[in-house]
Amino acid sequence: MAETLEPETASVAKASAEHVSVEAPVVPTGDEDIVLPHEPERVAAVDEPIVPTGDEDIAFPTEPETEIEAAPEVIPAPDFTEADREVPGLPLLFIDARTPIGWTDRPVEDSTLRRLYDLAKLGPTSANSSPARFLFLRSREAKEKLRQTLSPGNVEGVMAAPVTVIVAYDPVFYDNLFRLYPQADARSWFAWNDEFSQETAFRNGTLQGGYLIAAARLLGLDCWPMSGVDTNRVDQLFLDPRGWRSNFLVSLGYGIPPEGPRNPRLTFDEACELL
Ligand SMILES: Cc1cc2nc3c(=O)[nH]c(=O)nc-3n(C[C@H](O)[C@H](O)[C@H](O)COP(=O)(O)O)c2cc1C
Repeated sequence: MAETLEPETASVAKASAEHVSVEAPVVPTGDEDIVLPHEPERVAAVDEPIVPTGDEDIAFPTEPETEIEAAPEVIPAPDFTEADREVPGLPLLFIDARTPIGWTDRPVEDSTLRRLYDLAKLGPTSANSSPARFLFLRSREAKEKLRQTLSPGNVEGVMAAPVTVIVAYDPVFYDNLFRLYPQADARSWFAWNDEFSQETAFRNGTLQGGYLIAAARLLGLDCWPMSGVDTNRVDQLFLDPRGWRSNFLVSLGYGIPPEGPRNPRLTFDEACELL
């Protein structure tokens, strides 16, 4: 039977078989989706090169120049209704929120950052693993240290921001599970499998970065996320002593919004399937 599998399916089946080996959890937790066989393997950011995000054309001069086709003239259907505006939070979180192009002088208090973390930490993670770690860079000294890791197009946006957060994760997050998930020996689900724990840390750490953005917007802050940064260098400069790994940056403050309209998003029919 196995020899009839396509190579990709076969490797997924193998990964799946590994995940359900005798060392896998015996207690059902509701978190077992983490071993679904169709999930793509995700290698932690630590060994990754900086991948262009689409925002740093200037910063990656080796990218081939491509002719950009003119967007077709379309009149988009409204993405939201006036009734959506009345839903608490929707304008702040989505409808009116924009990634800023610069910053006002208004500072961000440390107490706001504490409040921000205390809200973001409530977002769900698998087995309550909470692998994200956040470094809030406020001082000139810390910002100057970060400067050398930034792609050139991102320097100004970071240096002028009142706060830039290094969104990181702890690869050995599972050492906290005895108190974060006391219902079971959750540590043993991860500690034996480096690839699985890295994948879990990266997935949930990224989600927690998203929760941080959502919480910040609801607190009235603007957010400028950035992945145009040399994460290996960030790790060397800021994180190695703790063993944490960086994922992306989020600058926070009270921003200057862009003047033009948003870039379009994919429609429901392009991006979604109803099965
Ligand atoms: C993970 C992530 C990485 C990003 N990286 C960069 C970046 O390196 N530089 C930059 O100027 N903007 C960056 N952005 C900002 C996006 O381009 C921006 O949020 C997106 O185009 C939406 O714009 P809007 O909020 O105006 O609709 C990033 C956003 C995210 C979520």
